[in-house]
Amino acid sequence: MDRMSLRELAVPIIKAIDSFNYLLKSHHRRTAVAAYHIANKMGLGNEDMFELVVAAGIHDIGALSIQERDMLVQVDVANPAPHCTMGHRMLASFYPFKNIAQIIKHHHISYQDSMHMNAGEVLFQSHIIHLADRVDVLINPDSFILNQKKQVVETINAKTGMTFHPKVVEAFNEVSKADIFWIEINNLDIDQLFRRLDVSVDFELTIDNIIDFALTLSRIIDFRSRFTASHSYTVAHLSSLFGEYFGFSEEKCKKLLVSGYLHDIGKIGIDPGLIEKKEPLSNEEYNLIKLHAYYTGQILKELSLSPWFGEIVEWAEKHHEKIDGMGYPYALKELDIDNGSKIIAFSDVISALLEERPYRKAMPIDVAFNIIREKIAPSISCSMFQVIELHKKEINNLVKKCHNHTFEEYRLDNELGTNLWAPS
Ligand SMILES: [Fe+2]
Ligand SMILES: [Fe+2]
Ligand SMILES: [Fe+2]
Repeated sequence: MDRMSLRELAVPIIKAIDSFNYLLKSHHRRTAVAAYHIANKMGLGNEDMFELVVAAGIHDIGALSIQERDMLVQVDVANPAPHCTMGHRMLASFYPFKNIAQIIKHHHISYQDSMHMNAGEVLFQSHIIHLADRVDVLINPDSFILNQKKQVVETINAKTGMTFHPKVVEAFNEVSKADIFWIEINNLDIDQLFRRLDVSVDFELTIDNIIDFALTLSRIIDFRSRFTASHSYTVAHLSSLFGEYFGFSEEKCKKLLVSGYLHDIGKIGIDPGLIEKKEPLSNEEYNLIKLHAYYTGQILKELSLSPWFGEIVEWAEKHHEKIDGMGYPYALKELDIDNGSKIIAFSDVISALLEERPYRKAMPIDVAFNIIREKIAPSISCSMFQVIELHKKEINNLVKKCHNHTFEEYRLDNELGTNLWAPS
């Protein structure tokens, strides 16, 4: 694998969260810029600064899979715990993000509450993100930012020592005197911001790190609904198994795993209500859902800075293409669709038919395979499906294993009360 650093992985994700998520546009970038300026004034060390900026850049990631996004843009978040806990749970299993997950866990904690907690539980960066986040929420996007300085500073100061850490407020008061603080909240892009950080603290990722991170991201989409809680996970594991059937190398099978985890990441830009809908979708709604394949490509292309990702992106973004030219978004024909994309396409449909949907029960594998053989395989590849069918039993077992694994995780989230999409 080519060299790939944590920064090269984090930046595209920050961009994806900001640009495709319709309710939180630019909020992560803006919070990261404000946090950077405040931390700079406080003289935060290189490593702490790097983690602060990454954490600020994805701080509300836990809210993407739950229905509380409207709440996040209010100044006093009534019950911030679910999206903080969810964010922490999603990221904590990704080893390089251990501290980042901890920072995110407490990014809405008040200074007063933090004083009753164990020493070291609340990292200082959480206090910085808390204030930076509220600054962005207080800024009215419809009026010129420099005209709002006084009011925002006053509102923050009124909560010093209660909501906000006095040292962070002190640094904010200093740094916010300069127009550049406000101008850069509006204008500094995330690449420019990362260029200001000391890269010596950045570190190289292994393939296994990338697999772990892809799994983490897949949960944003899967855990939006109990009906899809296992979807990308199952697609990933089926794809890597199918790779073996078709003689893919071990490395390519790992790429299939990553591509499977990320194939629906573009659903970040789709209203989760559409995915949960019980009634049949209208044409207009179906057209909106179709956009996700394009979004997946756009998000993952940011990662293609590293050539290692080339096939992963290609397979994921073409998972709805059909050899008869009736697929989307490119309406490609046979020769332009790689076997990797066809593998993801088969895994996608097998996984979907074996899952319950709001409007139908999960299908037994025999019924699903009959439908695929007759109606779906002709537009992907009949010869490939003949090979897949030989392994029906193994496939059924793997799908069951995937379901058990992910539903256990999903149930844990429900117990924590973090998943507001849980069945009542
Ligand atoms: Fe938040
Ligand atoms: Fe936020
Ligand atoms: Fe899809």
